[in-house]
Amino acid sequence: MASSDFQSFLDEVVMRNDIVEIISGFTTLKRSGNNMMGLCPLHNDKKSPSLSVSPDKQIFHCFGCGAGGSVIQFVEAAMNLDFMDAVKYLADRAHMEMPSTRGGGDKQKQLMLSKKKERLYQINAMAARYYFDCLSKPEGKPGLDYLRERKLKNSTIKKFGIGYAPEGWTDLYDHLKAQGCAEGDMEDAGLIRRRQNGTYYDAFYDGRVVFPIIDVRGRVIAFGGRIIRDGTDAPKYWNTPETLIFKKKDNLFGLNLAKNDKSGRLLLMEGYMDVVALHQSGFGNAVASLGTAFTPEQARLVKRYAPRAVLCYDNDEAGIKATLRAGDILFDEGVKVRVLTVTDGKDPDEFIKNKGPDMFSVLIERSRPLIEYKIDGIREKYNLNDVDDKVDFTREVSEVLARIKDAAQREIYVGRLADELKISAAGIMAGVSDIELKNAETDQRCRESERLRRTMHRPLPEEKNVRGVYWAERFLLNLMCDERVIKKVLESGLTPDDFASEPAHKRLAELLISLAESGAVPEPSDIMGRCAPEDAGTVSDILINDKETKDKLLACAGPIGILVRAKEERQRLNAAQDDEQLRLLFEKKKNRKNATGGAK
Ligand code: GTP
Ligand code: MN
Repeated sequence: MASSDFQSFLDEVVMRNDIVEIISGFTTLKRSGNNMMGLCPLHNDKKSPSLSVSPDKQIFHCFGCGAGGSVIQFVEAAMNLDFMDAVKYLADRAHMEMPSTRGGGDKQKQLMLSKKKERLYQINAMAARYYFDCLSKPEGKPGLDYLRERKLKNSTIKKFGIGYAPEGWTDLYDHLKAQGCAEGDMEDAGLIRRRQNGTYYDAFYDGRVVFPIIDVRGRVIAFGGRIIRDGTDAPKYWNTPETLIFKKKDNLFGLNLAKNDKSGRLLLMEGYMDVVALHQSGFGNAVASLGTAFTPEQARLVKRYAPRAVLCYDNDEAGIKATLRAGDILFDEGVKVRVLTVTDGKDPDEFIKNKGPDMFSVLIERSRPLIEYKIDGIREKYNLNDVDDKVDFTREVSEVLARIKDAAQREIYVGRLADELKISAAGIMAGVSDIELKNAETDQRCRESERLRRTMHRPLPEEKNVRGVYWAERFLLNLMCDERVIKKVLESGLTPDDFASEPAHKRLAELLISLAESGAVPEPSDIMGRCAPEDAGTVSDILINDKETKDKLLACAGPIGILVRAKEERQRLNAAQDDEQLRLLFEKKKNRKNATGGAK
């Protein structure tokens, strides 16, 4: 399939999937002028709707997080899919057959990329098989012994596909090579590493129990390897680095199994071993982040599968810190978070071993809502019989309560606190509202400066009327969806280089002009499909609103004039700089001559 065919396939996918219908599945949209507005599901948008969707143009843009594009880009972001998977999802939905052969140009690159990913998935699957099979061979005995000692049953080992990578430099490498895998692919999967001299060695070479990390679609995307030998300096865990198919922040260990759990609740662990031990004990809803701090992406993932989560981190200082951080992230994403405190043993795995699964159920029962957990933690620091302490305690707790957006929930906690401290609820509430207001102001300022940073190019002091030029470029690019305007632009002598405020402006100008030259400028939703992925947010921002103008030909004269003048100004400036540089060069030469002349 040629690239233009693939492009028309994409155009049809976009045409057959109404963007309003798709986005309405994620958020409620209300009409506002020509467009629809709603809370943006792609970021933590709670207060004012910042997502704008154009039913006519079939594109979206969020003024809060800057995301934008056609229905394909929305599905990519909202469902955490890569480009080809998003296309496939939408094609399926419209009962369209995916084209099987490769295209040309950019789309060919996309297809090659998805082929590459396919190979990495395959190679990972082969490696997982190899590690697993190793357990039943003589060289795998240390691994098997270790897993037995950790009390893992065969069925558990099999369920998670746990394996062993024996000590040695090229075991996996040799195996995969013999199966016909390319070294480049093995390396790109993070399974082998390259030495300076061009030879390769296995990523796991020092005897590690290996946990495959499997995505929700059942594909092995990475491995975590735990060393089993005592007394080495090597890190306890070594994980696959980020690869084309493995983004740590987007995945949770065990979710491939836990997603089938029906309890509506996920148990969040710190360690792989905790997850495995819990599943073995009948808690099929345990997952863990992948050896890094919990991310907002992971919180969204949690929310997709369960409205409630229980944090079951280690009960040490690091664990408590991590609990508070993950708790806030989950809370802000709207997950109902509780915190479980491990009372016996350093982590859930040890607890289960010591006390058994039934007692762990009791811990779950006893887990406290995040807010309560936080307040309890604060209370421990103060002596509430002391007046000063009591004031500080109230202030610190008010900070926590100010984070609660739900009015009823907030009132309940305020009431409790009032009872406990024997002060009026109204007084506490006033303090909390104050803090909330201050936080909102800070948030607002951060958002504003972020937005400015994103939308404004860095103003050069000598360049006059910078903002005027910037907005003129955007206004003109919006109008340039009309070929007649493009003609005017070209007649005026402007080229894509003259859209100089932002690289994305220049690229969009190039795209529009080349589309016009090859026939016609297509619908905005199709322009989205043709622009560079990193430009999608800027381009949707430029295209989403119709400029209030009846006659585009008349309207384009203004911005064209501004850009032409800016161009002339730039040329003058460049010429002047050239002159100045020549002069400096001349001076330098003269000085050097004088210096050498003087030394002689
Ligand atoms: P056991 O000690 O065998 O019970 O493992 P665990 O899974 O309970 O690990 P632990 O509680 O020590 O650490 C929690 C998680 O942090 C692990 O599952 C890893 O994902 C990660 N982690 C721990 N140590 C390291 C390390 O040395 N390097 C890296 N990259 N990650 C680590
Ligand atoms: Mn552990």
